[in-house]
Amino acid sequence: MRSISSTLAGVPPSPTTMMMQRGRELRAAGKDVVNLAGGEPDFDTPRHIVEAGLAAIQAGDTHYPPAFGTPALLEAIVAKLKRENNVHHVTPGQVMVTPGAKWALFATLAALLEAGDDVLILDPSWVSYAPMVLLHRANPVRVALSGDDHFRISVDLLERAITPRTKVLMVNSPNNPTGRVLTRAEIDAIVQVAVAFDLYVISDEIYEHLVYEGHLSASLAVEPGMAERTVIVNGFSKAYAMTGWRLGWLAGPEPIVKLARVYQTHSAQSAASFTMAAGVAALNGPQGCIAEMRAVYDQRRRMVLDAFEEIPGIECPPIEGAFYVFPRFTQTRKSSLEITQALIDDALVVGTPGSAFGPAGEGHVRFSIAERTQDLEKMLDRLARVVPTL
Ligand SMILES: Cc1ncc(COP(=O)(O)O)c(C=O)c1O
Repeated sequence: MRSISSTLAGVPPSPTTMMMQRGRELRAAGKDVVNLAGGEPDFDTPRHIVEAGLAAIQAGDTHYPPAFGTPALLEAIVAKLKRENNVHHVTPGQVMVTPGAKWALFATLAALLEAGDDVLILDPSWVSYAPMVLLHRANPVRVALSGDDHFRISVDLLERAITPRTKVLMVNSPNNPTGRVLTRAEIDAIVQVAVAFDLYVISDEIYEHLVYEGHLSASLAVEPGMAERTVIVNGFSKAYAMTGWRLGWLAGPEPIVKLARVYQTHSAQSAASFTMAAGVAALNGPQGCIAEMRAVYDQRRRMVLDAFEEIPGIECPPIEGAFYVFPRFTQTRKSSLEITQALIDDALVVGTPGSAFGPAGEGHVRFSIAERTQDLEKMLDRLARVVPTL
């Protein structure tokens, strides 16, 4: 037989998905498992959004939709960018609606990359960034951030990773998995390096609404010299609890969006028609649902951080945004994978090993706090018992 794709064979399967699967298997075997490996709100999609989707189906909106988004949704996204992000340069022609933000990231990379290009990935970062780069036959170049320095980004760290082939920098704030939100100094550092080295920046803003304690998430696209080099990626999964609807979007410079549109028409084609009506209801409707969900995450965040302070062997700086805690396990020589496995076996608590997010995540385990409060309480009780034995 002829050989099959060596590119794909070189890409590891998603560790988050694998851990979630392990959790499901244990639960199916009757175990009282607390599964915190995933990354999706435990809330259902707000009612007014569901109803807009249902109404669209019932009205016969079940045919191929416009490939890049309905005019109503494109307009709603442009208005949202102005209203919430102070981004005024984007027209509907510079937006593409996608089946999930994940596909928006993938299509953006397809539009930007040549084989062999280098892409800077801040380490630790979301599990799919490096594989996505590899799938475009480009090289993920990890910029190791230090947990001791609260995963801070600096000009020096970025510049040291740059090669003549560096073309793109991927940024995610609020960050999965670290919970960090970019500071003014970090934004300045990114802008300085992107402009000086003529880099494109992919700004993954999917957790933008989930920020705590006065931290503000700002779009990189509004910074001087950034509009022409920044592609904003965002979606409905996290803010509106719409993970299953598969709805996201990208917005950026016209030549890039044009190529991303070519890519989409020959692959996914479009997002599902009736989800777009739901997306319009989400963006144009009442926003109180976001504040309600954020308040619950914030309460859980405080509860978990306070309890971690009392558990010897766990160190967890306050998280500023998103819905994950990313504690470091300080009194064990075990790797993060071994710690995660021990927590599954001994505590029936499923997390995601920090190393899944890159070598700089070693020593950490990520737990989602977008799960039921009683599950988080169980997790805390069990970790208090098991962590000292690791
Ligand atoms: C940082 C980050 N970007 C993008 C996504 C993808 O979101 P979507 O459900 O819209 O594909 C996720 C989902 O976990 C994420 O954590």
